[in-house]
Formats: sequence, C-alpha cells, structure tokens
Amino acid sequence: MRVIILDSAKDVAQFAANTIIDTVNRKMRPTLGLATGSTPIEAYRAVIDAYKTNRVSFAQTVTFNLDEYIGIKEEHVQSYRYFMNQHLFNHIDIPLSNTFLPGAASLNEAQLHKNAHQYEEAIKKAGGIDLQLLGIGKNGHIGFNEPTSSLRSRTRIKSLSESTIEANKRLFKNGEYQPRLALTMGIETILESRQLLLLATGSTKANAVKDMVEGPLTAMCPASALQLHQDATIVIDSEAADKLVMKDYYLWCEQQRQDLE
Ligand code: GLP
Repeated sequence: MRVIILDSAKDVAQFAANTIIDTVNRKMRPTLGLATGSTPIEAYRAVIDAYKTNRVSFAQTVTFNLDEYIGIKEEHVQSYRYFMNQHLFNHIDIPLSNTFLPGAASLNEAQLHKNAHQYEEAIKKAGGIDLQLLGIGKNGHIGFNEPTSSLRSRTRIKSLSESTIEANKRLFKNGEYQPRLALTMGIETILESRQLLLLATGSTKANAVKDMVEGPLTAMCPASALQLHQDATIVIDSEAADKLVMKDYYLWCEQQRQDLE
C-alpha cells in the first residue's frame, strides 16, 4: 500500500485528477472505475478543467461506477447516475453510452440479481478496470460494501447500515425518500482492478483510514481488503491521516520516492 499524505483536500483532488488524466492519456481504450460521494467531487472538477484546456479527451474511455441505489430511477436527482452526469459526464466528451452503473431501478429481486451478473460480465468484456477510484465510509465501507461484507464478494444487493444511512442523510431533503438498499460491486470485484486509488479527507475519516491501513485484514473494515492489492494508493489530507501511527514513515517513504523520480 502506498500512503500519500498531502496538506489539503484540494491537493488530494488534484492528485486524483492527475492520476485519472495520466491513465486516460496512456491507454488506447481506458477503463475507469468511478465513485460518488462528496470526496471525489473536487477531483472531477479538476478533470473537467483538464478536459476544457485540452489536456485530456475521454472519447475512448469506458467507465463503471461502484454502486447505485436500488429502486431509484436514473433521472431521479438522488440517483448516482444523476450525480455522475451532473458532476462529470455532462462536462466532458465521454459518450454517455460508454458510462455504466449497476442497473438498480427495479425492485424485483430476480431482476436485480440478473443485472448484478450482467454488470460483472460487462466489466469483464471491457477487459477489466485500469484504475478504480474509491472513497471510504466512516465505518470503513468501500462502494456500499458495509462491515461484514465478504472479502470475496461480487456485485450484489447490499442493505445499507444505519451508520451509512445516517451519514448520507445530509444529502437528502427533509421527507425525501432515502433508499436503504443498493447494488454494489463486491470487494473481490474491486480488488480485480489493476490499480486502486482511494481518497479520504477530513477528520471524520481518520478512524476508518487507520483501520484500513494499519488495522488487521477484516470484513469489519471492508477497506482493509486493499492491503491485499499489489497497486493500491491511499491519498489523504493531514486531517484524515491524524490517527495513523506510522504517519512519519509514510511521509519519509514519499520523500525517498521523489529522489527516485
Ligand atoms: C457513499 C458511497 C461510497 C463513498 C462513501 C463516502 O455511501 N457509496 O462510495 O465512498 O459513501 O462518501 P463521502 O465521500 O461523501 O464521505
């Protein structure tokens, strides 16, 4: 695991944007795994800036999002499809037909299982994911893989935990329906991406970051599964890094790397 501690959330966003841009510029047909939540919004803004100043084109890019709420139509303002269109896709040259999220609008269980399976197949058919962007929940979830998710899980239905519902409440208006189920890539699906980039900012993520990086590998902290990946980078601001016991070592490692580069 490479742990990069930067001064501010803005630096984290710029680092993430640069990684996305490099990946897209390096590959003939890049495949990106994307995330929602408030953390990646600034990074998407920086990506849009890069597109507008001709530093990158997404004309050949294919994207797969981590998750989608169940029972919410794509056009609904709370759907993750709506979020992605609004925060990224509508502002760059990616054909919308190349952007995928798990099909979760139905409330029919058999249909959702079928959609989950098809999503896995679509990722495979696209040749796998080159770079998967991730956030982290306060309880250590990635995508919507809540604590106790199987480390071998694949795209499937998950019930959101009370703590996630509570944390995401701020994004819903008073009285607005807040889904309690989601279709999410599994932990194994995520681990199959060739490169992982997890972003975390702010003090509310400090405990989850500590458990992910320095805690045991455990389903109680789904993000700890990143310890198994050969190319996982964790980019965090100083507040999110606050509880890391080996903080000085991670900073030292990055200094040594700069000498190399
Ligand atoms: C959401 C998403 C995750 C995201 C996390 C943190 O529930 N399913 O993909 O990483 O919660 O969100 P935020 O960045 O808003 O803290």
